[in-house]
Amino acid sequence: MSEFANERLSALHSLVEQELLSQLKVRIVGEGEPVDIIAVPSRWQLVGKGNYAVVVEHPEFPGVVVKVYAEADNECSEEAAVYRALGEHPAFSRCYLSGERYLLLKKLNGVTLYDCVIRGLRVEKQVFIDVEAALEYARLRGLYPHDVHGKNLMMYEGRGYVVDISDFYINDDCRMWSDLKKAYERIYLKTLYKLPIPVPAWVLDLVRKGYRAYRKRPRSQVAK
Ligand SMILES: Nc1ncnc2c1ncn2[C@@H]1O[C@H](COP(=O)(O)OP(=O)(O)O)[C@@H](O)[C@H]1O
Ligand SMILES: [Mg+2]
Repeated sequence: MSEFANERLSALHSLVEQELLSQLKVRIVGEGEPVDIIAVPSRWQLVGKGNYAVVVEHPEFPGVVVKVYAEADNECSEEAAVYRALGEHPAFSRCYLSGERYLLLKKLNGVTLYDCVIRGLRVEKQVFIDVEAALEYARLRGLYPHDVHGKNLMMYEGRGYVVDISDFYINDDCRMWSDLKKAYERIYLKTLYKLPIPVPAWVLDLVRKGYRAYRKRPRSQVAK
Protein backbone atom coordinates (compact mmCIF):
# COMPACT_ATOMS: atom_id res chain seq x y z
CA MET A 1 0.00 0.00 0.00
CA SER A 2 1.30 3.49 -0.82
CA GLU A 3 2.59 5.86 1.83
CA PHE A 4 -0.35 8.17 1.11
CA ALA A 5 -2.84 5.36 1.69
CA ASN A 6 -1.10 4.44 4.94
CA GLU A 7 -1.27 8.03 6.15
CA ARG A 8 -4.97 8.25 5.31
CA LEU A 9 -5.64 5.01 7.17
CA SER A 10 -3.79 6.15 10.23
CA ALA A 11 -5.74 9.46 10.18
CA LEU A 12 -8.99 7.50 9.99
CA HIS A 13 -7.78 5.20 12.73
CA SER A 14 -7.25 8.21 15.04
CA LEU A 15 -10.69 9.59 14.22
CA VAL A 16 -12.28 6.24 15.03
CA GLU A 17 -10.47 6.02 18.36
CA GLN A 18 -10.99 9.65 19.36
CA GLU A 19 -14.47 10.36 18.04
CA LEU A 20 -16.44 7.44 16.67
CA LEU A 21 -16.05 4.90 19.46
CA SER A 22 -17.06 7.32 22.21
CA GLN A 23 -20.04 8.81 20.35
CA LEU A 24 -21.54 5.89 18.48
CA LYS A 25 -24.25 4.23 20.56
CA VAL A 26 -25.48 0.82 19.47
CA ARG A 27 -27.49 -1.81 21.31
CA ILE A 28 -27.84 -5.53 20.56
CA VAL A 29 -31.51 -6.53 20.25
CA GLY A 30 -30.94 -10.29 19.91
CA GLU A 31 -33.18 -13.03 18.46
CA GLY A 32 -31.82 -12.55 14.96
CA GLU A 33 -32.83 -8.87 14.83
CA PRO A 34 -30.58 -6.04 13.59
CA VAL A 35 -28.86 -3.89 16.22
CA ASP A 36 -30.60 -0.78 17.48
CA ILE A 37 -28.70 2.41 16.60
CA ILE A 38 -29.15 5.07 19.26
CA ALA A 39 -26.62 7.68 18.07
CA VAL A 40 -24.24 8.18 15.15
CA PRO A 41 -21.80 11.11 15.53
CA SER A 42 -22.29 13.97 13.09
CA ARG A 43 -20.55 13.67 9.70
CA TRP A 44 -20.42 9.86 9.97
CA GLN A 45 -22.92 8.12 7.71
CA LEU A 46 -24.63 4.82 8.24
CA VAL A 47 -23.77 2.25 5.55
CA GLY A 48 -25.51 -0.80 7.00
CA LYS A 49 -26.32 -2.73 10.12
CA GLY A 50 -26.23 -6.39 11.06
CA ASN A 51 -27.20 -8.37 14.14
CA TYR A 52 -23.93 -7.60 15.92
CA ALA A 53 -22.36 -4.60 14.30
CA VAL A 54 -22.99 -1.31 12.55
CA VAL A 55 -21.07 -0.15 9.46
CA VAL A 56 -20.37 3.56 8.94
CA GLU A 57 -18.23 5.78 6.74
CA HIS A 58 -16.77 9.27 6.93
CA PRO A 59 -16.92 11.60 3.89
CA GLU A 60 -13.23 12.49 4.20
CA PHE A 61 -12.24 8.84 3.83
CA PRO A 62 -13.98 7.52 0.72
CA GLY A 63 -13.62 3.85 -0.08
CA VAL A 64 -13.19 2.73 3.53
CA VAL A 65 -15.92 1.71 5.97
CA VAL A 66 -15.71 1.10 9.69
CA LYS A 67 -17.48 -1.93 11.09
CA VAL A 68 -18.06 -1.39 14.81
CA TYR A 69 -19.27 -4.26 16.98
CA ALA A 70 -21.90 -3.34 19.57
CA GLU A 71 -19.97 -5.29 22.18
CA ALA A 72 -16.29 -6.07 22.55
CA ASP A 73 -15.94 -9.84 22.42
CA ASN A 74 -13.98 -12.33 20.33
CA GLU A 75 -16.11 -11.85 17.22
CA CYS A 76 -14.13 -8.86 16.02
CA SER A 77 -10.71 -10.49 16.33
CA GLU A 78 -12.10 -13.69 14.73
CA GLU A 79 -13.29 -11.63 11.77
CA ALA A 80 -9.88 -9.95 11.41
CA ALA A 81 -8.28 -13.43 11.46
CA VAL A 82 -10.71 -14.63 8.76
CA TYR A 83 -9.68 -11.68 6.56
CA ARG A 84 -6.01 -12.53 7.07
CA ALA A 85 -6.67 -16.15 6.06
CA LEU A 86 -8.73 -15.05 3.05
CA GLY A 87 -6.11 -12.89 1.37
CA GLU A 88 -7.22 -10.80 -1.61
CA HIS A 89 -10.11 -11.67 -3.89
CA PRO A 90 -12.28 -9.31 -5.97
CA ALA A 91 -15.58 -10.61 -4.55
CA PHE A 92 -14.61 -9.89 -0.94
CA SER A 93 -13.71 -6.84 1.06
CA ARG A 94 -10.29 -6.41 2.70
CA CYS A 95 -9.43 -5.61 6.26
CA TYR A 96 -6.90 -2.77 6.51
CA LEU A 97 -6.74 -2.52 10.26
CA SER A 98 -8.57 -3.78 13.34
CA GLY A 99 -9.09 -2.74 16.94
CA GLU A 100 -10.72 -4.40 19.93
CA ARG A 101 -14.23 -3.90 18.54
CA TYR A 102 -13.85 -2.43 15.08
CA LEU A 103 -12.43 -3.15 11.64
CA LEU A 104 -11.45 -0.75 8.87
CA LEU A 105 -12.66 -2.44 5.68
CA LYS A 106 -12.56 -1.75 1.98
CA LYS A 107 -15.97 -0.41 1.00
CA LEU A 108 -17.93 -2.63 -1.35
CA ASN A 109 -20.31 -0.75 -3.60
CA GLY A 110 -23.74 -2.01 -4.50
CA VAL A 111 -27.01 -3.12 -2.96
CA THR A 112 -27.56 -6.13 -0.70
CA LEU A 113 -29.67 -8.87 -2.30
CA TYR A 114 -32.23 -8.32 0.47
CA ASP A 115 -32.52 -4.63 -0.54
CA CYS A 116 -32.64 -5.61 -4.24
CA VAL A 117 -35.83 -7.58 -3.52
CA ILE A 118 -37.28 -4.75 -1.45
CA ARG A 119 -36.47 -2.22 -4.17
CA GLY A 120 -37.58 -4.42 -7.05
CA LEU A 121 -34.11 -4.66 -8.67
CA ARG A 122 -33.52 -7.82 -10.71
CA VAL A 123 -30.85 -10.07 -9.13
CA GLU A 124 -28.79 -11.35 -12.05
CA LYS A 125 -27.74 -15.01 -12.41
CA GLN A 126 -24.12 -13.85 -12.61
CA VAL A 127 -24.35 -12.75 -8.97
CA PHE A 128 -24.89 -16.34 -7.88
CA ILE A 129 -22.11 -17.57 -10.18
CA ASP A 130 -19.69 -15.01 -8.71
CA VAL A 131 -20.63 -15.81 -5.11
CA GLU A 132 -20.28 -19.56 -5.73
CA ALA A 133 -16.76 -18.99 -7.09
CA ALA A 134 -15.89 -16.70 -4.18
CA LEU A 135 -17.06 -19.25 -1.60
CA GLU A 136 -15.06 -21.96 -3.34
CA TYR A 137 -12.01 -19.71 -3.09
CA ALA A 138 -12.69 -19.23 0.64
CA ARG A 139 -12.93 -23.02 1.13
CA LEU A 140 -9.57 -23.47 -0.62
CA ARG A 141 -8.12 -21.00 1.90
CA GLY A 142 -9.31 -23.28 4.74
CA LEU A 143 -12.45 -21.29 5.62
CA TYR A 144 -16.09 -22.43 5.95
CA PRO A 145 -18.74 -20.26 4.29
CA HIS A 146 -21.27 -19.43 6.97
CA ASP A 147 -24.35 -17.20 7.23
CA VAL A 148 -24.35 -16.52 3.50
CA HIS A 149 -27.76 -14.86 3.18
CA GLY A 150 -29.35 -11.93 1.37
CA LYS A 151 -28.10 -9.26 3.76
CA ASN A 152 -24.52 -10.53 3.53
CA LEU A 153 -24.36 -10.53 -0.27
CA MET A 154 -24.31 -7.57 -2.63
CA MET A 155 -24.89 -6.89 -6.29
CA TYR A 156 -22.94 -4.19 -8.11
CA GLU A 157 -23.14 -3.71 -11.88
CA GLY A 158 -24.56 -7.22 -12.21
CA ARG A 159 -21.72 -8.91 -10.27
CA GLY A 160 -21.85 -10.64 -6.88
CA TYR A 161 -19.93 -9.76 -3.70
CA VAL A 162 -19.74 -11.29 -0.21
CA VAL A 163 -19.92 -8.55 2.36
CA ASP A 164 -19.84 -10.40 5.69
CA ILE A 165 -17.41 -13.24 6.37
CA SER A 166 -17.34 -12.89 10.14
CA ASP A 167 -18.41 -16.49 10.83
CA PHE A 168 -16.33 -18.21 8.16
CA TYR A 169 -14.15 -19.80 10.86
CA ILE A 170 -17.09 -21.87 12.19
CA ASN A 171 -17.14 -25.39 10.75
CA ASP A 172 -20.74 -26.47 11.36
CA ASP A 173 -22.27 -27.33 7.99
CA CYS A 174 -24.25 -24.10 7.56
CA ARG A 175 -26.87 -24.65 4.85
CA MET A 176 -27.89 -21.05 4.22
CA TRP A 177 -26.07 -20.69 0.93
CA SER A 178 -27.45 -23.93 -0.55
CA ASP A 179 -30.95 -22.97 0.66
CA LEU A 180 -30.62 -19.48 -0.84
CA LYS A 181 -29.49 -20.93 -4.16
CA LYS A 182 -32.47 -23.31 -4.18
CA ALA A 183 -34.87 -20.45 -3.42
CA TYR A 184 -33.30 -18.39 -6.21
CA GLU A 185 -33.51 -21.19 -8.77
CA ARG A 186 -36.87 -22.69 -7.81
CA ILE A 187 -38.83 -19.58 -6.84
CA TYR A 188 -37.09 -16.31 -7.75
CA LEU A 189 -36.18 -17.16 -11.36
CA LYS A 190 -39.79 -18.16 -12.02
CA THR A 191 -41.32 -15.07 -10.47
CA LEU A 192 -39.51 -11.86 -9.48
CA TYR A 193 -36.72 -12.40 -12.01
CA LYS A 194 -39.29 -12.18 -14.80
CA LEU A 195 -41.20 -9.33 -13.19
CA PRO A 196 -39.05 -7.52 -10.60
CA ILE A 197 -41.52 -5.64 -8.42
CA PRO A 198 -40.78 -4.25 -4.95
CA VAL A 199 -41.58 -6.70 -2.14
CA PRO A 200 -42.54 -5.08 1.20
CA ALA A 201 -40.00 -5.56 4.01
CA TRP A 202 -42.62 -7.18 6.23
CA VAL A 203 -43.12 -9.97 3.66
CA LEU A 204 -39.37 -10.67 3.59
CA ASP A 205 -39.35 -10.56 7.38
CA LEU A 206 -42.03 -13.27 7.47
CA VAL A 207 -40.01 -15.39 5.05
CA ARG A 208 -36.88 -14.89 7.21
CA LYS A 209 -38.69 -15.87 10.43
CA GLY A 210 -40.35 -18.86 8.72
CA TYR A 211 -36.94 -19.99 7.46
CA ARG A 212 -35.40 -19.70 10.94
CA ALA A 213 -38.21 -21.79 12.45
CA TYR A 214 -37.86 -24.36 9.64
CA ARG A 215 -34.12 -24.72 10.14
CA LYS A 216 -34.50 -25.05 13.93
CA ARG A 217 -36.43 -28.31 13.46
CA PRO A 218 -34.46 -31.52 14.00
CA ARG A 219 -32.56 -32.61 10.85
CA SER A 220 -34.81 -35.70 10.42
CA GLN A 221 -37.87 -33.47 9.91
CA VAL A 222 -36.22 -31.05 7.49
CA ALA A 223 -36.59 -31.76 3.77
CA LYS A 224 -33.20 -31.86 2.06
N1 LIG B 1 -17.19 -3.68 3.36
C1 LIG B 1 -18.43 -3.21 3.26
N2 LIG B 1 -18.75 -2.32 2.29
C2 LIG B 1 -20.00 -1.81 2.19
N3 LIG B 1 -21.03 -2.16 3.01
C3 LIG B 1 -20.78 -3.03 4.00
C4 LIG B 1 -19.48 -3.61 4.18
N4 LIG B 1 -19.53 -4.44 5.25
C5 LIG B 1 -20.80 -4.40 5.69
N5 LIG B 1 -21.56 -3.56 4.95
C6 LIG B 1 -23.00 -3.27 5.13
O1 LIG B 1 -23.31 -3.31 6.52
C7 LIG B 1 -24.24 -4.36 6.80
C8 LIG B 1 -23.88 -5.01 8.14
O2 LIG B 1 -22.56 -5.52 8.09
P1 LIG B 1 -22.27 -7.04 8.50
O3 LIG B 1 -20.80 -7.26 8.30
O4 LIG B 1 -23.18 -7.95 7.77
O5 LIG B 1 -22.62 -7.02 10.07
P2 LIG B 1 -23.01 -8.25 11.04
O6 LIG B 1 -21.74 -9.05 11.25
O7 LIG B 1 -23.54 -7.62 12.28
O8 LIG B 1 -24.06 -9.06 10.31
C9 LIG B 1 -24.20 -5.30 5.60
O9 LIG B 1 -25.42 -5.97 5.41
C10 LIG B 1 -23.90 -4.32 4.46
O10 LIG B 1 -25.10 -3.67 4.07
MG1 LIG C 1 -24.18 -9.65 8.38
